[in-house]
Amino acid sequence: MEETPQHCLSRLPDNSALKQQELPAHRLYFTARRVLFVFFTTGIFCLCMGIILILSARSTQEIEINYTRICANCAKLRENASNFDKECTCSIPFYLSGKMMGNVYMYYKLYGFYQNLYRYVRSRSNRQLVGKDVKAVEDCAPFKMSDNKTPIVPCGAIANSMFNDTIILSHNINSSVQIKVPMLKSGLTWWTDKYVKFQNPSSKNLADEFRGTTKPPNWPKPIYDLDKKDPRNNGFLNDDFIVWMRAAAFPTFKKLYGRLNRTHHFIEGLPAGNYSFNIIYSILSYHFSFWR
Ligand SMILES: *[C@@H]1O[C@H](CO)[C@@H](O)[C@H](O)[C@H]1NC(C)=O
Ligand SMILES: *[C@@H]1O[C@H](CO)[C@@H](O)[C@H](O)[C@H]1NC(C)=O
Ligand SMILES: *[C@@H]1O[C@H](CO)[C@@H](O)[C@H](O)[C@H]1NC(C)=O
Ligand SMILES: *[C@@H]1O[C@H](CO)[C@@H](O)[C@H](O)[C@H]1NC(C)=O
Ligand SMILES: *[C@@H]1O[C@H](CO)[C@@H](O)[C@H](O)[C@H]1NC(C)=O
Ligand SMILES: *[C@@H]1O[C@H](CO)[C@@H](O)[C@H](O)[C@H]1NC(C)=O
Repeated sequence: MEETPQHCLSRLPDNSALKQQELPAHRLYFTARRVLFVFFTTGIFCLCMGIILILSARSTQEIEINYTRICANCAKLRENASNFDKECTCSIPFYLSGKMMGNVYMYYKLYGFYQNLYRYVRSRSNRQLVGKDVKAVEDCAPFKMSDNKTPIVPCGAIANSMFNDTIILSHNINSSVQIKVPMLKSGLTWWTDKYVKFQNPSSKNLADEFRGTTKPPNWPKPIYDLDKKDPRNNGFLNDDFIVWMRAAAFPTFKKLYGRLNRTHHFIEGLPAGNYSFNIIYSILSYHFSFWR
């Protein structure tokens, strides 16, 4: 055996398994039988899931009511900036031909609202929403500070454009008696949103915690005053607020607005009959631009 010349020695790779490419290797070995087996089992699994999903989707009942035209006079009223905070209500009667059994959920649906716009999606402050630092507004352009340099809470374009129509469902038991259908404003959010991503600052008195901040320009009220009746549904923990802040991926989207409280008349669900939606119209979002 020849001896390696001295000047070549330093260039030899180490005599290790890795450098000499001698590591053990595993090679997948496909036989037609195994491949077909995996292929057909996956296929059958997907088919079964599909059938189950279709059947469960068929068994849900849905009614959708478009109130854009019925409330058109309210929309017109709001276009005039001097009527910006005037309340406007409209009522939409409808007939429910069969009863809706079980849990009933109310959603609102917006068309052509691009919550997925890049600058819009990023215009929020997670540090603020988790209650660590209510004055952390760096990420919120163009809604960081009010004109006199007070930090906005909650800051950002998503919060500022929050959907805020009030929808009240009433049931006409007979021609003379109308009762309000009780709706719950709890349990509308993802668990992780309510208990991890959104938290109020620690102290008991919310108004104190938000001292030195101001409300978003489009809001009629500050965040700590959203729900007068239920303090647990206030501040960053307001269910409607949390639902709105989870930005939708598509321009047509539905968001959960309420759940039926199954008591008294409504233990089994919604009975058939005459109903009406009473809407306190305040939709701000369509006629203004986010970016000033
Ligand atoms: C709702 O009604 C408005 C006004 O009539 C109409 O422009 C819009 O397309 C309707 N939306 C749907 C989804 O039907
Ligand atoms: C807006 O409303 C005010 C007061 O209600 C009225 O004087 C004004 O003419 C309205 N402007 C338009 C453009 O309708
Ligand atoms: C309507 O219903 C209420 C309560 O169920 C009843 O007391 C009342 O007599 C009814 N009125 C008519 C006109 O049927
Ligand atoms: C939305 O409107 C309701 C009733 O008008 C009001 O109580 C609530 O504070 C408003 N919320 C926001 C975020 O503007
Ligand atoms: C549902 O309504 C009943 C009767 O009004 C009330 O006592 C109960 O607290 C409500 N349920 C919830 C979860 O709020
Ligand atoms: C619903 O309303 C219509 C029109 O007002 C009336 O003719 C009908 O009897 C009502 N149905 C019920 C179940 O109350």
